Amino acid sequence: MPLAAGAAVRRAALVLAASGSASPDAEARTLVAHVAAIEPGRILLADPLDDEAVTRLDEAVARRVAGEPVQHITGVAHFRTTTLRVGHGVFVPRPETETMVGWCLEQVVPGQRVVELCAGSGAISRALALEGPATDQWALELSTDALPYLTANLAGTGVQVVEADMADGLHELDGTVDLVVVNPPYVPLDAWESVPADVRDHDPQLAVFSGSDGLDALRIVAGVAARLLRPGGTLAAEHAEVQHEEVVDMYARDGRYDTVRDHRDLVGRWRFITARRLS
Ligand SMILES: C[S@@+](CC[C@H](N)C(=O)[O-])C[C@H]1O[C@@H](n2cnc3c(N)ncnc32)[C@H](O)[C@@H]1O
Repeated sequence: MPLAAGAAVRRAALVLAASGSASPDAEARTLVAHVAAIEPGRILLADPLDDEAVTRLDEAVARRVAGEPVQHITGVAHFRTTTLRVGHGVFVPRPETETMVGWCLEQVVPGQRVVELCAGSGAISRALALEGPATDQWALELSTDALPYLTANLAGTGVQVVEADMADGLHELDGTVDLVVVNPPYVPLDAWESVPADVRDHDPQLAVFSGSDGLDALRIVAGVAARLLRPGGTLAAEHAEVQHEEVVDMYARDGRYDTVRDHRDLVGRWRFITARRLS
C-alpha cells in the first residue's frame, strides 16, 4: 500500500531511534529522499512511496540499524558546497574538515600550486577547486580502493590525481608548491576498542589508524611537506583534538617550519595545524 512520504519518515525515524541513532529524524529524511530520488527538502511535497519504494526504504533502514553509514547506503556524502560519491573502500568526509578548507581558501591566490596528500574521496581538493580561485592542483592517494572514487569526484575539476605513497610521490614538484593540505589518518592503534563500530567496520583502516600514538602519518607529512613546499609555502594538516600539544610541539621543533599555529573547528575543538616552510 502506498505510504505518504511524511509518514515514511516518521516510521523510519522510530526504528532508527530505537536502534540508538543519534540523529534519527535527519537520517530518516535522508533515506526516504534517497529511495524516492528527491531532495530531502522536498519530502513534504513528494508523491506517496509505492510498495517497491517502501521495501527499499525498509532495506535501507535495516542496513543503517546494522551499523552501515548513511553515506554508504545513499552512495553520496555532502562536504561544504559539494557532493561526492562514496562507498566501501573510501573514507567518508567529515564536517570537522570543512573549517580547514575554509582557511585554505583564504590563503590561495590564482596560479598557485596546491597539493592534497591522503586525498581519499577528494572532498578537500574538489571543494578547493570549485570554491577557490584557479590554481594548479594535485590530489595524491595510496589506496587502490579509494582511487576510483577520487578519480570520479575530481573529474572535470582540472585536479590531477596521483596514485602514490605520500612519502615517495610528486618529486617533480619538490620546492615549488605554495600550499600542502592533508587530512591524514591519526587515530592511535591503541584506541581500536574505543573507536565507534561504524568507523571501525566501515571506514578503511588505512584511512583511520596511524601507529601506536596516531602520529606516524603526521610525522611523515612533516618531511613530505618540507620537501614539496617552496620557501614561505604553507602546510595545513588535520589532527585529533587530543593531539593539540603534541602536534604543535612536533612542528615547532622540526626546524623546517615557522609560524606554527593550531586552529579550532566549528565546534571549538583543536582540529588543524598550519605552518610556514622556512627558507
Ligand atoms: C582520514 S582519510 C582522509 C580522506 C580525505 N582527504 C578526507 O578528508 O575525507 C586519510 C586518507 O589517507 C590515505 N593514506 C594513508 N596513508 C597514506 C600514504 N602513506 N600515502 C597516501 N595516502 C595515504 C588513506 O587511504 C585515506 O584515504
